[in-house]
Amino acid sequence: MQSSSQNIIIRKPDDWHLHLRTGTILKKVLKYTSSTFGRAIIMPNLDPPVLTTNQAWTYFQHISELVPKTHNFKPLMTLFLTEQSDILDIREGVKKGIVTAVKLYPAGSTTNSSNGVRDISRIYSLLEKISLLNIPLLIHGEATDPKIDVFDREAFFIENTLAPLRKKIPELRIVLEHITTKEGVDFILESDRNLAATITPHHLIINRSSMFLNGIRPHYYCLPLAKREVHRLALVNAAISGNPRFFLGTDSAPHLDNFKENACGCAGIFSAPNALKCLAHIFEKNAALDKLEGFVSLNGAKYYGLPANSSYTRLSKVIKPEEELKSISIGKNKITVFDPGFSLLWKHENALDFKK
Ligand code: NCD
Ligand code: ZN
Repeated sequence: MQSSSQNIIIRKPDDWHLHLRTGTILKKVLKYTSSTFGRAIIMPNLDPPVLTTNQAWTYFQHISELVPKTHNFKPLMTLFLTEQSDILDIREGVKKGIVTAVKLYPAGSTTNSSNGVRDISRIYSLLEKISLLNIPLLIHGEATDPKIDVFDREAFFIENTLAPLRKKIPELRIVLEHITTKEGVDFILESDRNLAATITPHHLIINRSSMFLNGIRPHYYCLPLAKREVHRLALVNAAISGNPRFFLGTDSAPHLDNFKENACGCAGIFSAPNALKCLAHIFEKNAALDKLEGFVSLNGAKYYGLPANSSYTRLSKVIKPEEELKSISIGKNKITVFDPGFSLLWKHENALDFKK
Protein backbone atom coordinates (compact mmCIF):
# COMPACT_ATOMS: atom_id res chain seq x y z
CA MET A 1 0.00 0.00 0.00
CA GLN A 2 1.22 3.49 -0.89
CA SER A 3 -0.19 6.34 1.08
CA SER A 4 -0.31 9.94 2.11
CA SER A 5 -3.08 11.14 4.39
CA GLN A 6 -5.14 12.19 1.35
CA ASN A 7 -4.34 9.47 -1.11
CA ILE A 8 -3.86 5.73 -0.87
CA ILE A 9 -3.28 3.08 -3.45
CA ILE A 10 -4.34 -0.42 -2.57
CA ARG A 11 -4.80 -3.70 -4.37
CA LYS A 12 -8.19 -3.79 -6.00
CA PRO A 13 -10.73 -4.98 -3.40
CA ASP A 14 -13.03 -8.01 -3.46
CA ASP A 15 -16.46 -8.45 -1.92
CA TRP A 16 -16.72 -11.79 -0.11
CA HIS A 17 -20.51 -11.68 0.38
CA LEU A 18 -22.87 -10.18 -2.19
CA HIS A 19 -26.48 -10.52 -3.33
CA LEU A 20 -27.04 -9.71 -6.99
CA ARG A 21 -30.51 -11.22 -7.54
CA THR A 22 -31.76 -11.81 -11.12
CA GLY A 23 -33.71 -10.00 -13.85
CA THR A 24 -33.99 -6.22 -13.83
CA ILE A 25 -32.52 -5.86 -10.36
CA LEU A 26 -29.39 -7.77 -11.39
CA LYS A 27 -29.09 -5.63 -14.52
CA LYS A 28 -29.29 -2.44 -12.49
CA VAL A 29 -27.16 -3.28 -9.44
CA LEU A 30 -24.30 -5.24 -11.00
CA LYS A 31 -22.27 -2.27 -12.27
CA TYR A 32 -21.88 -0.79 -8.77
CA THR A 33 -20.01 -3.90 -7.71
CA SER A 34 -18.22 -4.65 -10.97
CA SER A 35 -16.82 -1.11 -11.20
CA THR A 36 -15.26 -1.32 -7.75
CA PHE A 37 -14.46 -4.92 -6.94
CA GLY A 38 -12.33 -7.50 -8.74
CA ARG A 39 -14.37 -10.45 -7.55
CA ALA A 40 -17.41 -11.12 -5.40
CA ILE A 41 -18.82 -14.18 -3.72
CA ILE A 42 -22.34 -14.40 -5.14
CA MET A 43 -24.97 -15.54 -2.70
CA PRO A 44 -27.22 -18.39 -3.87
CA ASN A 45 -30.45 -17.42 -2.05
CA LEU A 46 -32.43 -16.77 -5.19
CA ASP A 47 -36.03 -17.86 -5.46
CA PRO A 48 -35.63 -20.74 -6.31
CA PRO A 49 -32.13 -21.10 -4.85
CA VAL A 50 -28.92 -22.04 -6.68
CA LEU A 51 -28.76 -25.70 -5.70
CA THR A 52 -26.64 -27.40 -8.33
CA THR A 53 -23.46 -26.86 -10.29
CA ASN A 54 -25.52 -26.55 -13.45
CA GLN A 55 -27.62 -23.79 -11.94
CA ALA A 56 -24.50 -22.03 -10.64
CA TRP A 57 -22.98 -22.20 -14.13
CA THR A 58 -26.11 -20.74 -15.72
CA TYR A 59 -26.21 -17.95 -13.13
CA PHE A 60 -22.47 -17.30 -13.63
CA GLN A 61 -22.91 -16.94 -17.39
CA HIS A 62 -25.91 -14.70 -16.94
CA ILE A 63 -24.02 -12.37 -14.60
CA SER A 64 -20.87 -12.41 -16.75
CA GLU A 65 -22.81 -11.38 -19.86
CA LEU A 66 -24.11 -8.33 -18.03
CA VAL A 67 -20.77 -7.07 -16.71
CA PRO A 68 -19.97 -3.82 -18.57
CA LYS A 69 -17.19 -4.36 -21.11
CA THR A 70 -14.80 -1.92 -19.42
CA HIS A 71 -15.08 -3.65 -16.04
CA ASN A 72 -12.81 -6.47 -15.00
CA PHE A 73 -14.96 -8.47 -12.64
CA LYS A 74 -15.31 -12.15 -11.83
CA PRO A 75 -18.34 -13.55 -10.01
CA LEU A 76 -17.41 -16.42 -7.68
CA MET A 77 -20.29 -18.81 -7.40
CA THR A 78 -21.74 -20.59 -4.39
CA LEU A 79 -24.23 -23.39 -3.88
CA PHE A 80 -27.13 -23.26 -1.46
CA LEU A 81 -26.80 -26.27 0.86
CA THR A 82 -29.81 -28.39 1.72
CA GLU A 83 -30.18 -31.68 3.53
CA GLN A 84 -30.42 -33.24 0.05
CA SER A 85 -27.29 -31.65 -1.47
CA ASP A 86 -25.31 -34.08 -3.58
CA ILE A 87 -21.60 -34.30 -2.82
CA LEU A 88 -20.87 -35.65 -6.31
CA ASP A 89 -22.38 -32.54 -7.86
CA ILE A 90 -20.52 -30.25 -5.46
CA ARG A 91 -17.24 -32.06 -6.18
CA GLU A 92 -17.84 -31.73 -9.90
CA GLY A 93 -18.53 -28.01 -9.52
CA VAL A 94 -15.34 -27.48 -7.55
CA LYS A 95 -13.28 -29.57 -9.99
CA LYS A 96 -14.57 -27.58 -12.95
CA GLY A 97 -13.84 -24.29 -11.17
CA ILE A 98 -17.52 -23.31 -11.19
CA VAL A 99 -18.14 -23.54 -7.45
CA THR A 100 -15.99 -21.50 -5.05
CA ALA A 101 -17.89 -22.13 -1.82
CA VAL A 102 -21.07 -23.59 -0.37
CA LYS A 103 -23.50 -21.66 1.79
CA LEU A 104 -25.30 -22.96 4.83
CA TYR A 105 -28.52 -21.18 5.75
CA PRO A 106 -30.41 -22.45 8.76
CA ALA A 107 -33.95 -22.84 7.37
CA GLY A 108 -35.93 -19.66 7.94
CA SER A 109 -32.96 -17.59 9.10
CA THR A 110 -33.22 -14.94 6.40
CA THR A 111 -34.45 -13.95 2.92
CA ASN A 112 -35.28 -16.99 0.74
CA SER A 113 -33.85 -19.49 3.21
CA SER A 114 -36.88 -21.70 3.72
CA ASN A 115 -35.15 -24.49 1.76
CA GLY A 116 -32.16 -24.32 4.09
CA VAL A 117 -30.95 -26.80 6.66
CA ARG A 118 -33.34 -27.65 9.51
CA ASP A 119 -31.03 -29.87 11.51
CA ILE A 120 -27.33 -29.47 10.97
CA SER A 121 -26.50 -32.87 12.45
CA ARG A 122 -28.25 -34.38 9.41
CA ILE A 123 -25.58 -32.94 7.13
CA TYR A 124 -22.49 -33.69 9.25
CA SER A 125 -21.41 -36.47 6.91
CA LEU A 126 -21.90 -34.18 3.89
CA LEU A 127 -19.85 -31.47 5.63
CA GLU A 128 -17.07 -33.97 6.35
CA LYS A 129 -16.90 -34.69 2.62
CA ILE A 130 -16.97 -30.98 1.83
CA SER A 131 -14.03 -30.43 4.18
CA LEU A 132 -11.99 -32.74 1.91
CA LEU A 133 -12.71 -30.53 -1.11
CA ASN A 134 -10.83 -27.68 0.52
CA ILE A 135 -13.48 -25.06 -0.22
CA PRO A 136 -14.96 -22.87 2.47
CA LEU A 137 -18.33 -23.45 4.06
CA LEU A 138 -20.04 -20.07 4.42
CA ILE A 139 -22.45 -19.88 7.32
CA HIS A 140 -25.37 -17.60 8.06
CA GLY A 141 -24.80 -17.85 11.79
CA GLU A 142 -28.17 -17.34 13.41
CA ALA A 143 -30.35 -19.72 15.38
CA THR A 144 -33.92 -19.86 14.10
CA ASP A 145 -35.90 -21.02 17.11
CA PRO A 146 -38.62 -18.37 17.45
CA LYS A 147 -38.27 -18.58 21.23
CA ILE A 148 -34.80 -17.04 21.02
CA ASP A 149 -34.73 -13.26 21.10
CA VAL A 150 -33.81 -11.92 17.65
CA PHE A 151 -30.87 -9.98 19.07
CA ASP A 152 -29.42 -13.14 20.69
CA ARG A 153 -29.58 -15.43 17.68
CA GLU A 154 -25.99 -15.07 16.55
CA ALA A 155 -24.48 -15.65 20.01
CA PHE A 156 -26.82 -18.60 20.53
CA PHE A 157 -25.89 -20.13 17.18
CA ILE A 158 -22.18 -19.79 17.90
CA GLU A 159 -22.44 -21.55 21.22
CA ASN A 160 -24.93 -24.25 20.31
CA THR A 161 -24.31 -25.01 16.64
CA LEU A 162 -21.01 -23.60 15.46
CA ALA A 163 -18.83 -24.60 18.41
CA PRO A 164 -20.02 -28.25 18.26
CA LEU A 165 -19.58 -28.28 14.46
CA ARG A 166 -16.00 -27.03 14.83
CA LYS A 167 -15.29 -29.79 17.38
CA LYS A 168 -16.83 -32.43 15.17
CA ILE A 169 -15.14 -31.37 11.91
CA PRO A 170 -12.09 -29.23 12.76
CA GLU A 171 -10.76 -29.55 9.22
CA LEU A 172 -13.76 -27.77 7.73
CA ARG A 173 -12.74 -24.28 6.58
CA ILE A 174 -15.51 -21.95 7.69
CA VAL A 175 -16.45 -18.35 7.05
CA LEU A 176 -18.92 -17.03 9.59
CA GLU A 177 -20.75 -14.49 7.47
CA HIS A 178 -21.61 -10.91 8.44
CA ILE A 179 -20.80 -11.13 12.12
CA THR A 180 -22.59 -8.60 14.30
CA THR A 181 -21.55 -9.37 17.86
CA LYS A 182 -18.64 -9.25 20.27
CA GLU A 183 -19.27 -12.98 20.75
CA GLY A 184 -18.71 -13.45 17.01
CA VAL A 185 -15.45 -11.51 17.10
CA ASP A 186 -14.24 -13.39 20.20
CA PHE A 187 -15.08 -16.75 18.68
CA ILE A 188 -12.88 -16.00 15.68
CA LEU A 189 -10.08 -14.72 17.90
CA GLU A 190 -10.20 -17.81 20.12
CA SER A 191 -9.90 -20.26 17.23
CA ASP A 192 -6.50 -21.14 15.90
CA ARG A 193 -7.38 -22.05 12.31
CA ASN A 194 -10.06 -22.80 9.73
CA LEU A 195 -12.34 -20.03 10.91
CA ALA A 196 -12.71 -16.50 9.57
CA ALA A 197 -15.49 -13.92 9.39
CA THR A 198 -16.83 -11.33 7.01
CA ILE A 199 -17.92 -7.95 8.31
CA THR A 200 -20.27 -5.57 6.47
CA PRO A 201 -19.79 -1.81 6.18
CA HIS A 202 -23.23 -1.17 7.65
CA HIS A 203 -22.54 -3.16 10.82
CA LEU A 204 -19.45 -0.98 11.31
CA ILE A 205 -21.65 2.12 11.09
CA ILE A 206 -25.09 1.52 12.57
CA ASN A 207 -26.19 0.03 15.85
CA ARG A 208 -29.62 -1.24 16.79
CA SER A 209 -30.82 2.19 17.86
CA SER A 210 -30.25 3.44 14.30
CA MET A 211 -33.25 1.36 13.24
CA PHE A 212 -35.55 3.39 15.49
CA LEU A 213 -34.17 6.92 15.32
CA ASN A 214 -37.24 9.21 15.46
CA GLY A 215 -39.34 6.47 13.88
CA ILE A 216 -38.84 3.12 12.23
CA ARG A 217 -36.10 3.04 9.60
CA PRO A 218 -36.71 0.10 7.28
CA HIS A 219 -33.57 0.78 5.25
CA TYR A 220 -31.45 -0.10 8.29
CA TYR A 221 -33.25 -3.41 8.73
CA CYS A 222 -31.04 -6.33 7.78
CA LEU A 223 -30.20 -9.76 9.06
CA PRO A 224 -28.41 -10.38 11.24
CA LEU A 225 -29.80 -7.29 12.96
CA ALA A 226 -27.41 -4.55 14.01
CA LYS A 227 -26.73 -4.94 17.74
CA ARG A 228 -25.82 -2.64 20.65
CA GLU A 229 -23.04 -0.06 20.35
CA VAL A 230 -20.62 -2.26 22.31
CA HIS A 231 -20.93 -4.86 19.55
CA ARG A 232 -20.44 -2.30 16.79
CA LEU A 233 -17.23 -1.17 18.51
CA ALA A 234 -16.01 -4.77 18.75
CA LEU A 235 -16.60 -5.14 15.00
CA VAL A 236 -14.71 -1.92 14.23
CA ASN A 237 -11.79 -3.08 16.35
CA ALA A 238 -11.77 -6.43 14.58
CA ALA A 239 -11.90 -4.86 11.12
CA ILE A 240 -9.09 -2.39 11.78
CA SER A 241 -6.97 -4.86 13.75
CA GLY A 242 -5.14 -6.22 10.73
CA ASN A 243 -6.04 -9.76 11.80
CA PRO A 244 -6.18 -11.66 8.48
CA ARG A 245 -9.23 -13.64 9.54
CA PHE A 246 -11.53 -10.63 9.30
CA PHE A 247 -12.40 -9.35 5.84
CA LEU A 248 -15.03 -7.48 3.87
CA GLY A 249 -18.32 -8.98 2.80
CA THR A 250 -20.67 -6.12 2.01
CA ASP A 251 -23.82 -8.25 2.17
CA SER A 252 -25.20 -5.66 -0.21
CA ALA A 253 -28.76 -7.00 -0.52
CA PRO A 254 -31.06 -5.00 -2.79
CA HIS A 255 -34.81 -5.10 -2.27
CA LEU A 256 -37.37 -2.86 -3.96
CA ASP A 257 -38.39 -0.04 -1.64
CA ASN A 258 -42.02 -1.12 -1.61
CA PHE A 259 -40.99 -4.44 -0.08
CA LYS A 260 -38.92 -2.69 2.58
CA GLU A 261 -41.29 0.19 3.36
CA ASN A 262 -44.00 -2.27 4.16
CA ALA A 263 -46.05 -3.53 7.11
CA CYS A 264 -43.83 -6.61 7.00
CA GLY A 265 -40.70 -5.25 5.37
CA CYS A 266 -37.89 -7.47 4.19
CA ALA A 267 -34.32 -7.56 5.44
CA GLY A 268 -31.35 -6.30 3.48
CA ILE A 269 -29.29 -3.16 2.93
CA PHE A 270 -28.11 -2.10 -0.53
CA SER A 271 -24.59 -0.75 -0.03
CA ALA A 272 -22.71 -1.69 -3.21
CA PRO A 273 -22.52 1.92 -4.54
CA ASN A 274 -20.83 3.39 -1.47
CA ALA A 275 -19.40 0.45 0.49
CA LEU A 276 -15.75 1.26 -0.20
CA LYS A 277 -16.19 4.97 0.52
CA CYS A 278 -17.88 4.14 3.82
CA LEU A 279 -15.02 1.86 4.77
CA ALA A 280 -12.36 4.44 3.92
CA HIS A 281 -14.24 6.87 6.19
CA ILE A 282 -14.38 4.40 9.10
CA PHE A 283 -10.75 3.32 8.77
CA GLU A 284 -9.58 6.94 8.53
CA LYS A 285 -11.66 7.95 11.54
CA ASN A 286 -9.99 5.18 13.51
CA ALA A 287 -6.50 6.12 12.32
CA ALA A 288 -6.22 2.76 10.58
CA LEU A 289 -6.07 3.58 6.86
CA ASP A 290 -2.97 1.41 6.71
CA LYS A 291 -5.16 -1.59 7.58
CA LEU A 292 -7.79 -0.95 4.90
CA GLU A 293 -5.99 -2.87 2.15
CA GLY A 294 -5.73 -6.00 4.28
CA PHE A 295 -9.42 -5.87 5.14
CA VAL A 296 -10.80 -5.18 1.66
CA SER A 297 -8.19 -6.63 -0.71
CA LEU A 298 -5.85 -9.18 0.86
CA ASN A 299 -7.27 -11.13 3.80
CA GLY A 300 -10.25 -12.62 2.02
CA ALA A 301 -8.30 -13.79 -1.00
CA LYS A 302 -5.71 -15.39 1.24
CA TYR A 303 -8.32 -17.24 3.27
CA TYR A 304 -9.98 -18.52 0.08
CA GLY A 305 -6.58 -19.60 -1.23
CA LEU A 306 -6.73 -17.17 -4.17
CA PRO A 307 -4.15 -14.61 -5.30
CA ALA A 308 -4.81 -10.93 -4.61
CA ASN A 309 -6.05 -8.95 -7.63
CA SER A 310 -3.26 -7.82 -9.90
CA SER A 311 -4.62 -4.30 -10.45
CA TYR A 312 -4.90 -1.41 -8.02
CA THR A 313 -7.40 1.10 -6.70
CA ARG A 314 -6.65 4.66 -5.75
CA LEU A 315 -8.65 6.24 -2.94
CA SER A 316 -8.48 10.00 -2.63
CA LYS A 317 -9.88 12.34 -0.05
CA VAL A 318 -11.98 15.17 -1.47
CA ILE A 319 -12.58 18.54 0.17
CA LYS A 320 -16.21 18.83 -0.81
CA PRO A 321 -18.46 15.78 -0.78
CA GLU A 322 -19.84 14.79 -4.15
CA GLU A 323 -23.57 14.42 -4.64
CA GLU A 324 -24.24 10.91 -3.38
CA LEU A 325 -26.47 8.42 -5.14
CA LYS A 326 -29.56 8.07 -2.94
CA SER A 327 -31.43 5.42 -4.88
CA ILE A 328 -31.57 3.65 -8.20
CA SER A 329 -34.76 3.33 -10.18
CA ILE A 330 -36.20 0.01 -11.22
CA GLY A 331 -39.10 0.72 -13.56
CA LYS A 332 -41.60 2.67 -11.48
CA ASN A 333 -39.97 1.48 -8.30
CA LYS A 334 -36.62 2.16 -6.67
CA ILE A 335 -33.97 0.70 -4.42
CA THR A 336 -32.60 2.94 -1.69
CA VAL A 337 -28.83 3.08 -1.24
CA PHE A 338 -27.40 2.71 2.28
CA ASP A 339 -27.20 6.09 4.01
CA PRO A 340 -24.24 6.03 6.40
CA GLY A 341 -25.44 9.23 8.08
CA PHE A 342 -22.26 11.17 7.30
CA SER A 343 -20.79 12.84 4.22
CA LEU A 344 -18.55 10.65 2.15
CA LEU A 345 -15.27 12.38 1.55
CA TRP A 346 -13.49 9.56 -0.24
CA LYS A 347 -13.63 8.71 -3.89
CA HIS A 348 -11.99 5.80 -5.64
CA GLU A 349 -10.87 4.88 -9.11
CA ASN A 350 -9.34 1.85 -10.70
CA ALA A 351 -5.65 2.28 -11.13
CA LEU A 352 -4.38 -0.36 -13.50
CA ASP A 353 -1.12 1.45 -14.03
CA PHE A 354 -0.39 2.60 -10.48
CA LYS A 355 2.23 0.01 -9.70
CA LYS A 356 3.59 -0.15 -6.17
C1 NCD B 1 -30.08 -10.92 2.71
C2 NCD B 1 -30.97 -10.91 1.48
O1 NCD B 1 -31.80 -10.02 1.36
O2 NCD B 1 -30.83 -11.80 0.63
N1 NCD B 1 -30.64 -10.06 3.70
C3 NCD B 1 -30.00 -9.45 4.71
O3 NCD B 1 -30.67 -8.79 5.54
N2 NCD B 1 -28.71 -9.53 4.85
C4 NCD B 1 -29.88 -12.31 3.19
C5 NCD B 1 -28.79 -12.47 4.23
O4 NCD B 1 -27.61 -12.37 3.93
O5 NCD B 1 -29.13 -12.72 5.39
ZN1 ZN C 1 -26.26 -11.91 2.74
